[in-house]
Amino acid sequence: MPNTLNVYALPKLVTPEEMAGGTVVVIDVLRACTTIAHALEAGAREVIPCEGVDEARDIAKRVPDGEVILGGERKGLPIEGFQLGNSPREYTFARVEGKTVVFTTTNGTRAMIHARLANRILIGAFVNVTAVFEELAGQQQIHLLCAGTNGQMSHDDVLLAGLLVERVQREGGLLYEQNAQAITARETWLHSFALPRALGAEPLEPERLAKELRKSLGGRNLVSIGLEDDILDAARIDHFSGVPALDPNRMKIQLI
Ligand code: MLT
Repeated sequence: MPNTLNVYALPKLVTPEEMAGGTVVVIDVLRACTTIAHALEAGAREVIPCEGVDEARDIAKRVPDGEVILGGERKGLPIEGFQLGNSPREYTFARVEGKTVVFTTTNGTRAMIHARLANRILIGAFVNVTAVFEELAGQQQIHLLCAGTNGQMSHDDVLLAGLLVERVQREGGLLYEQNAQAITARETWLHSFALPRALGAEPLEPERLAKELRKSLGGRNLVSIGLEDDILDAARIDHFSGVPALDPNRMKIQLI
């Protein structure tokens, strides 16, 4: 079987069965994956991704009081009765250290559950991109699954997928067959930052990446609800060195 490196701009473009047995990187830059990385780096014991708000409330009831935090968003905003929203900076050491975070977002947590048949499920964001890339070394079936925004492709996710394709192709050590979306994502990444690269601007400054992320559907939504600062937090490349991974048997996310 050839090595494959596929990108899916939306979960509906691939079935769970087509990703079975492979390594999936779930990508929701703005903001679910960035926020999960922040929560775990701030000392949360685990994050449990849920599709529905009621499901999240039910799961939280099964965790002893004082050990659980409900977090997430609908329409980008905090959910009634939940302690935290979906802004990365809300997930501080003081709030989440040692806690189980039960988490539901509109697109990101759905994409994580869509990947459930994979052998390994990694949570990817710009804040941990190099660590994720290193986990992909030697993997033969790689699926980069973008969450998108409300069923629409989102530029922020495609950019990160493109950066991962570029790095795996250039530095991964294996040859891969790539689907058309992988080729397009890589071209998008390379084209978006051709000018700063030509001017020798490496590594990419967060402000420069944030400017590009702001163009995405998710970015424009955040600007419209006054949460523009979250975009800059999502643009801090390699801010963290840990990789959140979703255990498909327990459906819990922890750092590896
Ligand atoms: C999502 O999972 O839908 C996103 O993280 C939306 C958001 O930015 O809150």
